Amino acid sequence: MMKIEILPSLLAADLGNLKDGILRVAESGADALHLDIMDGHFVPNLSFAPDTSALCRKVLPAGFPINTHLMMTNPDKYALTFIEKGSTTIQYHLEMRDLVDIRALAEAIHAKGMRVGLALNPDMPAEVALPFIDYADEILCMTVFPGYGGQAFIESVLPKITQLRKAAPTIDIMVDGGVNFETAERAARAGANQFVAGSFLFKQTDMKAAVTELRQRCEQAFSACII
Ligand code: DX5
Ligand code: ZN
Repeated sequence: MMKIEILPSLLAADLGNLKDGILRVAESGADALHLDIMDGHFVPNLSFAPDTSALCRKVLPAGFPINTHLMMTNPDKYALTFIEKGSTTIQYHLEMRDLVDIRALAEAIHAKGMRVGLALNPDMPAEVALPFIDYADEILCMTVFPGYGGQAFIESVLPKITQLRKAAPTIDIMVDGGVNFETAERAARAGANQFVAGSFLFKQTDMKAAVTELRQRCEQAFSACII
């Protein structure tokens, strides 16, 4: 059984009190903090910067993982900066494979002892990821088109998750976008084992209880995984 991981996305925190949002994640029993970085080119929106990773590192308990999702056209320019600022996983998009050397960037991240996540937008077929899968520690299947929190989960991504799970039975497969109790269960049943949730977790008055229930539901659904 693969480890089920829950990752609250800081994008949904109260930006007027980011420190409080980071502490809520730390105290929720979550496995990592998901930090969304948007560049205004790869996605239409802008979000955080490397210094946000430094703030997370300062506020989080020592060793708490910072899972950093680079929604950028040039992740190779910023990946090592985010690692210097405390990020422990760097995720970047296979949509950029013609402009970014996917393998070289994975090797540079691994050389720093950090984890590599390769991300696919909802319309990117699994076949594109398969040649790169050996470079990655995790595959991030976007279940919304990235750029904004609070969007609806795209169900048609589920067969792709199953296809990737069959191709790579032991790799971590993450879903990001529109995750709540029900959609997380469907993704877990399809083969996902890591779950990013932004608005759903931050709107809870008791984030810890929600993380606990989300984990239990995902563990049960993953054990009934359809493959
Ligand atoms: C979407 C981001 C997500 C976002 C998810 O562009 O990559 O991580 O924070 O937010 P929710 O959970 O609200 O869909
Ligand atoms: Zn994300």
